[in-house]
Amino acid sequence: MKKLFAVLGNPIGHSMSPVMHNDLFSLYNMNAVYLPFQVKEEELKEAVNGLRALGAVGFNVTVPHKSTIMPFLDEIDELAASIGAVNTVVNQNGKLIGYNTDGLGFLKGLDEYVTKIEGHKILVIGAGGAARAIYFTLAKENPVQIDIANRTVEKAVELITECPYSITSRALTLEEAGNYLGEYDLIIQTTMIGMEPNTEEQPISLENINKQALVCDIIYNPLETSILRDAKERGAAVQNGINMFVYQGALAFEIWTGRLPDIQRMKENVLRQLGGK
Ligand code: ATR
Repeated sequence: MKKLFAVLGNPIGHSMSPVMHNDLFSLYNMNAVYLPFQVKEEELKEAVNGLRALGAVGFNVTVPHKSTIMPFLDEIDELAASIGAVNTVVNQNGKLIGYNTDGLGFLKGLDEYVTKIEGHKILVIGAGGAARAIYFTLAKENPVQIDIANRTVEKAVELITECPYSITSRALTLEEAGNYLGEYDLIIQTTMIGMEPNTEEQPISLENINKQALVCDIIYNPLETSILRDAKERGAAVQNGINMFVYQGALAFEIWTGRLPDIQRMKENVLRQLGGK
């Protein structure tokens, strides 16, 4: 019997996950299919129970259901619980267990540039769901400091207060972060500023950037956001959101199948999809 995998979201039409995972199934000769389902908030519980009843092996959860799905699952992994969001669910004999591979996906994707978070001074721009997953995951890895800059500083304060791991952090305005920018060797942009169609926008000025810094943007559409172009022109290293997207998917695939898939092939597949739009 064909194994069922899925992604639940709303909207879901532009998700690149189905092509990415279906390609892996064919690569590994798995008799499986990964389908996208557009699910309304008020029907999420039925959708989750439906997948359980159908015997789905695993599924992803994306915007806007990452937090609201939690009460409908049987067990939540510790990191996902602390982040307060789930993006990957595995069905273990009828028991649905929720994980969050977003932060770990970012961390793994970073590996090609920064192999150890220990000793780094980090700036996270933004305080939404993605920032939260990345901040909590990196906080576990013993960096020197992680500051959070956000338009609404109160939300940055909230993230810092709620972080379950011991870490030195300051909540900053975007302007303050711009002023202190030279202090950081890793700068992570997690807001939607610079995403299509507002590709000329940039959350902070890079005037004071340290040229040794690595600037990461979790956006992959466009592949080079305004802040990345600016950082590159100033001599800093840059990384776009492709790695995080691919690795969060790879980690989900590993949770479901026990096999860490071919990352390079996944990347090429995603780039092809982005290029083919
Ligand atoms: P996600 O879950 O994808 O991270 P989110 O929770 O909606 O998305 O968070 C969006 C982030 O982008 C927030 O940090 C938000 O800042 P506020 O907390 O002040 O709302 C930030 N953001 C979005 N649009 C912005 C803009 N035009 N200028 C500055 N920050 C913006």
